[in-house]
Amino acid sequence: MRHTLVPDPATPKPSPDGGSSRLGRVVLMGSPARVFVPDQLTRAAADFAARFPEFDPDGALERLRATEYSRLDDHDQVYLDYTGGGQHAVSQVDAHVELLRSRVLGNPHSANPTSLATTELVERARAYVGEYFNAPHDDYLCVFTPNASGALRLVGESYPFSPGGRFALTFDNHNSVNGIREFARRGGAEVTYVPVVAPELRLDRSAMTAALRAADREQHNLLAFPAQSNFSGIQHPLDLVDEAHDLGWDVLVDMAAFAPTNRVDIAAVRPDFAAFSFYKLFGFPTGVGCLLVRRDRVAALARPWFAGGTITISSVQGDGHYLHDDEAGFEDGTIDYLSIPGVEIGLRHVASIGIDVVHARVACLTAWLLDALGSLRHRNGRPLVQVFGPTSTDARGGTVSFIVRDPDGRPFDDRRVEELANRENISLRTGCFCNPGAGEIAHGLSADEMRAFFGRDEAVSFLALRGEMLERYDLLVAAIRVSVGIASNFTDVYRFMCFMQSFVDRTTDEVGRAEFSAANCRIVRDSA
Ligand SMILES: Cc1ncc(COP(=O)(O)O)c(C=O)c1O
Repeated sequence: MRHTLVPDPATPKPSPDGGSSRLGRVVLMGSPARVFVPDQLTRAAADFAARFPEFDPDGALERLRATEYSRLDDHDQVYLDYTGGGQHAVSQVDAHVELLRSRVLGNPHSANPTSLATTELVERARAYVGEYFNAPHDDYLCVFTPNASGALRLVGESYPFSPGGRFALTFDNHNSVNGIREFARRGGAEVTYVPVVAPELRLDRSAMTAALRAADREQHNLLAFPAQSNFSGIQHPLDLVDEAHDLGWDVLVDMAAFAPTNRVDIAAVRPDFAAFSFYKLFGFPTGVGCLLVRRDRVAALARPWFAGGTITISSVQGDGHYLHDDEAGFEDGTIDYLSIPGVEIGLRHVASIGIDVVHARVACLTAWLLDALGSLRHRNGRPLVQVFGPTSTDARGGTVSFIVRDPDGRPFDDRRVEELANRENISLRTGCFCNPGAGEIAHGLSADEMRAFFGRDEAVSFLALRGEMLERYDLLVAAIRVSVGIASNFTDVYRFMCFMQSFVDRTTDEVGRAEFSAANCRIVRDSA
């Protein structure tokens, strides 16, 4: 894989021309150099509005931000981690609190009045999820789960992986999809990763077709891919589902990063399984996701155990059990019944704005951001930013991953960038985003290089991996990610660009290294 990025593994130092290096090919973006400084926000906002008149033509976003999301500005926060988690509107919380204040609700697994009241709310929410994602009740089950990972695990543990069958997945899956390979291997199925190709990190469609054609259609074969990568923002073509079906595969689509800013039309795409986390769409409540399962595929899933709530009857002495043949068969124990009504509230909130409106706004901000990042140059003409993924808005969402380089092409310590962003109240992400495959391709890492980290007696931390990569290959394996969403406005991305501007013409030595606690890479000590 590295060969698409790195001409010669024996030359680990960045090449002097900055064009290509062991650190990856620099994506040259053609925009003229621009300056982003706080006191030009008003003018820049006017330019933006002129360039993207569809962004907020009637001021609806401005009003929304001032009413529903005013805490962002009250706390002077630039929130750019919508792929990590969405933001909730105040009215969602109000509606939820009102529900909790006014209703008497009990555990739903019963027929008493408070239990029935809960059941009604849960089933309303379930029906609305189906309506929102256009997954007709007659065709799809909607199983509530704790999150997208819970939904993905349900498929992994229940899918009839067996010798002769296959599990294929794209390189750029989240770890919660990668983990399904452990179930596949345990069942004796063959696991195939289909590459994405640098620098855009788009799917290698011919490799995908070859992988799909290799299957024995008499066996159980499962394909999994993200509708949108949480690393690069790439949106894989959803017609893959039809292609895979035609070649005898079942398809699991990970919708976690796609659904917050794109219309999901399950009836049109017809996946066998689709996984979601609701907090990514509307921030609150956390702790609820769902798995949509095509009804005609339910019988193919064999749950490895049973639990309270999932069975019609079970017996100790009779040593048997019957699983429910609907959603209940997949919902272990007591569902999060006080949170689930908040899913309907949240989805109705998004619907009241309009997912297509959210999509269009995010597309405008992303287009501007990509262009702005590409326009930043050091005085010597070298680009400041290398984007991992497409630099156009074609088939991509509002997630942008990148590294920042000094005038000599050396990457700044991503955690240091995060630390400095923290001082500006900018929430961005660094690391690998639980998406190791996309990162490996973006950084040009080979299977041999990665295998060297496994099979050791002691678990290797991400920090240790970073350290070894830096030492051995002078390679910084990390990225910075920003993502925009439902409440993002121009000020957010402009302030972020002012922050980015501050790295122009600075060296890695000047910017320095992050002061992280060695024990926990997620704890950032502010060295200010
Ligand atoms: C594409 C994708 N899939 C799955 C997940 C897992 O979601 P959760 O942590 O809510 O289970 C995420 C989370 O970031 C994601 O972005």
